Amino acid sequence: MPRTLVTRKLPSSVIARLEAVSDVDLYVGSAAISREELLTRVAGADAIVCLLTDMIDAMVLEAAGPRLKIVANVAVGFNNIDLPACRARGIAVTNTPDVLTNACADFTWALILAITRRFGEGERVVRAGAWGGWALDYMLGMELRGKQLGLVGLGRIGRAVADKAPAFGMTVAYTARTSAEIPNATQMSLDRLLSTSDVVSLHCPMTPDTKHLIDQKALTRMKRTAYLINTSRGPVVDEGALAWALKERLIAGAALDVYEKEPEIHPGLMTLENVLLIPHLASATTETRTAMADLAVSNAIAILNGQPPITPVP
Ligand code: DGY
Repeated sequence: MPRTLVTRKLPSSVIARLEAVSDVDLYVGSAAISREELLTRVAGADAIVCLLTDMIDAMVLEAAGPRLKIVANVAVGFNNIDLPACRARGIAVTNTPDVLTNACADFTWALILAITRRFGEGERVVRAGAWGGWALDYMLGMELRGKQLGLVGLGRIGRAVADKAPAFGMTVAYTARTSAEIPNATQMSLDRLLSTSDVVSLHCPMTPDTKHLIDQKALTRMKRTAYLINTSRGPVVDEGALAWALKERLIAGAALDVYEKEPEIHPGLMTLENVLLIPHLASATTETRTAMADLAVSNAIAILNGQPPITPVP
């Protein structure tokens, strides 16, 4: 039987499918598998089913040895995998698109509403016993109706976020590498999008081109009344620059689901009231996480059975 290393617990029904076609080595630790353990346990594997917390680089591929045929990531993002190194060795790489689109789009709207209506601040006041009661001008937020939502990147999740904008009365602007027609939305340059949008939401992949796309310069282009939402990848935003912009009130607020060095968060952000800090939960529904695990395992099974992968990374 071929051997599969699974780097974190997955639903048992999903593991059972994998066990029908391979010997499964399941890492059951409560945190991410350590680098040392990964390098040891990967030896001789035919398949790896891994998470975005696992760095699958040339050293891991080397440690795995010549039998390795697939790295199946349980995530749509795949910046944790060294693609060129996999390609050079003829190893397939797959991700989990589509199955998490709706959960991530819903979550983006949850962040938009939470930061513009000051949920985090309000809850902290209540829990601290510091709420003095209702007042007409107390903790006012920003209404969404009539405002512009600026989407940086228009992949599946960006489009799904755009689809829900009419429900909140927002117009949509977007940047995209190619001309991507979507109804009632305006394509524009990043510079124009930043300077005209009331909410800027990031939906681009993490690549060398998008690292620190939102830096000090970009933040100063935004309206002082605007909000930044990041559910893409942490390094797309320069966290130090963001902490500065929020502290100086150069933008009104930010809601973050992802960070530059997860699970660490820039200390400058931790003390600010106008930032909502969420622990990478965009796809975290039972339905979606099960579907992600299932798709990753289906990809591994396909390759182990000599079939093409279902969702190879582009
Ligand atoms: C992904 O799949 O890339 C998401 O970040 C997981 O939540």
